[in-house]
Amino acid sequence: MAFQRPPGTQDILPGSAAIWQRVEEAARNLCRRFNYREIRTPIFEMTELFRRGVGETTDIVEKEMYTFEDRGGRSVTLRPEGTAGVVRAYVENKLYGEPDPAKLYYIGPMFRYERAQAGRYRQFHQFGVEAIGSVDPALDAEVIALGAMFYREIGLSGVRVEINSVGTPAVRAAFRGRLLEFLEPLKDQLCEDCRKRMERNPLRVLDCKVDQDKFGGAPSILDSLDEECRTHFEKVQQFLTAMDIPFAINHRLVRGLDYYTHTAFEYKAEGIGAIDTIGGGGRYNGLVREIGGPDQPGVGLGIGLERTVLLLEQQQEAAGETIDVYLIGLGEAAERETVRLLHALRQAGLKAERDYAGRKMKAQLKAADRLNARFAAILGDDELARGEITLKEMASGDQRFVKLDELAAAIREQG
Ligand code: HAM
Repeated sequence: MAFQRPPGTQDILPGSAAIWQRVEEAARNLCRRFNYREIRTPIFEMTELFRRGVGETTDIVEKEMYTFEDRGGRSVTLRPEGTAGVVRAYVENKLYGEPDPAKLYYIGPMFRYERAQAGRYRQFHQFGVEAIGSVDPALDAEVIALGAMFYREIGLSGVRVEINSVGTPAVRAAFRGRLLEFLEPLKDQLCEDCRKRMERNPLRVLDCKVDQDKFGGAPSILDSLDEECRTHFEKVQQFLTAMDIPFAINHRLVRGLDYYTHTAFEYKAEGIGAIDTIGGGGRYNGLVREIGGPDQPGVGLGIGLERTVLLLEQQQEAAGETIDVYLIGLGEAAERETVRLLHALRQAGLKAERDYAGRKMKAQLKAADRLNARFAAILGDDELARGEITLKEMASGDQRFVKLDELAAAIREQG
């Protein structure tokens, strides 16, 4: 029996690797301009880090972690998200010694044992940023803007930004009471998950997909914010407006991780079945201390790259990969010249390909078509004797002779 990949994993094949590379390049380029520097942390960490960091009552820690004992008897876990590891590295390497906030980014695989479906995998990739060491709401707004700009620069349209404030732990404790008062009479109508969440983590109830329409009259956490939380949230909104980043306030937005304080936000888009969240993040002022570091605040985001690429592929279906020129040599002398010429075209920076199967000219032209070649360049012995080559534009079918040593320039000119 042939082997199959484990459920929930994906092979990223050359056909979509190009789009992955473009997306990752856009992320790096953006981070350079925002002055976020790359950090690479281990793909597994000690299990305790995630229990403490992500939170005991979260779905992630309760039922989604890939946890195992290594040969030394330690409990380790494949990282389900990037923030806990980055914060651990920040503390361990004392990056807080620097006067300015540490502005870090990462791109890499994450692991969650979830029910696999379109847009939901057990190994997936995130592009994330973390800015640690400042409470300035300008940093919240910067991170939200960075994510919005990422989607814009890769050419993904229809992405909405939703923001909320989840306050401080004290604010949440007060709100929990008000929320439970509202939920209690509904209890019998709620799904099993919600009933469980009411006991352990009532704010998460608001996030339930099944019972969503029952919460129209739920109290808003925004009404429970204290003065400091309200001012912070207002500033974030002012700064987003100053940067012309459209956003909507969603007072029911609660994230699936426990470390958030103040700002929480999500990027949403239609197109992947029931899933509409494609990225999210927020501020986490207690996390660094929670995992044993100094009392340093932070804010960050995580963007799911599978979901991003899926939507991009949908939106840009027509705009497939192309090559600049497909080189066809006919005859023995031309064959040798083709090898030299192909190499020269590539050295000149063009994306060039040839036939390696000894096919006839017609089949080679078909191959050029399949590869979305902009041009075919055809070299026969006669043309070679004159130092020329036939350049055929694939879309129009127009063809003309060009001098061999002007081929690269001719292709470029018409590009
Ligand atoms: P998160 O909302 O759990 O946040 O994940 C961020 C994004 O990762 C999601 O919006 C989604 O696009 C993608 N994602 C999550 N789970 C899966 C999955 N099973 N399959 C495919 N994509 C998935 C975090 O992870 C936080 N660490 C973000 C953050 C950084 N907050 C502050 N700093």
